[in-house]
Amino acid sequence: MDKKVTEKQIQWYPGHMFKSIREIKEKLKLMDLVMILLDARLPLSSMNPDILKIVKHKPILILFNKMDLADTNILNEHMSYYEKNGFAGLKIDAQSQINTNKIHEKAQSVIKEKLDRNKSKGLLERPIRTMILGIPNVGKSTLINALSGKKATKTGNKPGVTKAQQWIKLGSNFELLDTPGVLWPKFGDRKVGYHLAVTGAIKDDIIPMDDVCHYALLFLKEYYPKRLLDKYEIPLDMYDYLEMLDQIGKQRGALLKGAEIDYDRVYHIILTDIRNKALGGLSFDRF
Ligand code: G4P
Repeated sequence: MDKKVTEKQIQWYPGHMFKSIREIKEKLKLMDLVMILLDARLPLSSMNPDILKIVKHKPILILFNKMDLADTNILNEHMSYYEKNGFAGLKIDAQSQINTNKIHEKAQSVIKEKLDRNKSKGLLERPIRTMILGIPNVGKSTLINALSGKKATKTGNKPGVTKAQQWIKLGSNFELLDTPGVLWPKFGDRKVGYHLAVTGAIKDDIIPMDDVCHYALLFLKEYYPKRLLDKYEIPLDMYDYLEMLDQIGKQRGALLKGAEIDYDRVYHIILTDIRNKALGGLSFDRF
């Protein structure tokens, strides 16, 4: 078993990278505010530091999405970390629309000075022009639908904007510039690739499942041993990866003919349980 995930294996769309960067840079000046969507289970691995450098002179609101799947205490620690570094943040569940109704108010507070200035000039209040950035699968489309209250609709070109731009109205509060908004994660650390794979941000066929499950089980053993005991009856003093796989296989009846363990099914069970919250809220990034 090769436990190494190499950068080569997980750098899967460099072409998009350059296109996204160019588009973001070009359109940034039209924005009142940039929303960065992070995965609440991995608020560090799902942030691309290069993007932060590009957008940092704009007002930024960080949305920690999939809060329902995260370990609340750890998520709160990460939110404090970002806050200490000057970023406004809000945890949300775009799927069940938890806290999504607070986004506008939070965004207004981030650009309060600009709004006050406009008001003092007698300008009418208008929707906040924004851009939603995030790695694949983090929930951008789900959030866009939640904010629009219905299926998002494209509006015509804006007067005063020289180049034709497609704006999408999100309810009466926001206008979104029609960009793909897709970022790529940065794999500075091997753990980042694993965290993205375990949570499903990287497709399952990119990294060998055995590798991902090995990482996941040892991680769970270190941070959530009681949950492994409760869910799979993995004894607290069992640390061996293969023994743990066998235990899960036996307990869940993932067996081939002749009672051998069906490892492919075991990998599937582990990853499905992690992603569906069958092991409770989990946070993978740690300080
Ligand atoms: P993207 O545009 O950024 O690529 O992501 P998208 O909205 O397509 O969301 C990816 C998956 O994440 C979807 O699940 C979506 O339902 C789910 N999702 C988005 N926000 C949340 C959230 O806050 N909590 C949870 N638990 N899930 C969320 P899917 O399995 O691809 O589709 P489906 O579940 O909608 O069928």
